[in-house]
Amino acid sequence: MKLETIDPNNVIRETNLSGTKYQGKVRDVYDNADSTLTIVTTDRHSSFDRVLAHIPHKGQVLNQLSLWWFEQLKDIVTNHVILSVDANTILAKKTKPLPIEVIVRGYITGVTATSLWTNYNNGQRDFGDFTLPDGMVKNQKLAEPVLTPTTKSDLGDENLSSKQIVEKGLLTQERLDEVNAIAIKIFKRGQELALERGLILVDTKYEFGLDDDGNLLLIDEVHTPDSSRYWLADSYDEAFAAGQDPKSFDKEFLRKWFKDNCDPYKDATLPDAPPGMVLELAKRYMEIFEKITGSELNCKN
Ligand SMILES: Nc1ncnc2c1ncn2[C@@H]1O[C@H](COP(=O)(O)OP(=O)(O)OP(=O)(O)O)[C@@H](O)[C@H]1O
Ligand SMILES: [Mg+2]
Repeated sequence: MKLETIDPNNVIRETNLSGTKYQGKVRDVYDNADSTLTIVTTDRHSSFDRVLAHIPHKGQVLNQLSLWWFEQLKDIVTNHVILSVDANTILAKKTKPLPIEVIVRGYITGVTATSLWTNYNNGQRDFGDFTLPDGMVKNQKLAEPVLTPTTKSDLGDENLSSKQIVEKGLLTQERLDEVNAIAIKIFKRGQELALERGLILVDTKYEFGLDDDGNLLLIDEVHTPDSSRYWLADSYDEAFAAGQDPKSFDKEFLRKWFKDNCDPYKDATLPDAPPGMVLELAKRYMEIFEKITGSELNCKN
């Protein structure tokens, strides 16, 4: 799809369906009171814990890309999808979400306080469940993917070791072992399939929940550019050798614009994002959908 054909006003900002509504940053989740949820992935684009802009087709991309990935992973793990309702909406099994976010990393990278590279670069070698050798450099591939679970909370993510998760009573050791084994398996499958499309799945976040019968389900979204970091595979070797960051699916430019043009942490109202940037981001979301799935995004509805 060409940039000129994207209509910047054709966005889903919020929805108003029946059922008890929980509004997440990106999704509107309706509890249908029959062990099902209606989940609408909107076009809201959030950062700094607030909505920065509405990106045309973003909700559709996230929803349909998750559906695609759920399908690719379903022989390894059951997921929450019951049926696809429309481009942005699914009917899902309602679960009790586990109180942790399962983060899997294949490379040592990142810039935030909880990222592996930041902590490693600050001298940390013992990460609770694994240790890393001296001499690693930014963006290096890890010998094996590692798990760095965090608490699922609005107060900022806190890294946890397996021991802490069990000691705090968040999960039993048995459940944690089950979750970890599945997370590693689906991450490896994700990496394999991404690589077939010229992408490196660098790291990702999974959410799991328990259904009424205590079965573990993969929920929320999976391997989307919002929950995962992707690099372009053919840029990796050269960039790594030159000590640079590989080319990535990058949405940082919009965050940066807000940082440069207002105080997104404090200002009561935010300026409108520049329309050109909104369209550029829409294009990037649509392109990554097409790159990963190998099929065109159907934008008719
Ligand atoms: N099958 C499911 N059962 C129960 N909860 C689910 C299921 N699938 C997704 N969720 C929850 O629905 C919400 C999705 O909303 P969204 O992704 O917009 O939220 P978020 O911004 O990630 O986080 P927050 O919930 O803190 O706003 C998440 O809280 C997620 O855990
Ligand atoms: Mg979410």
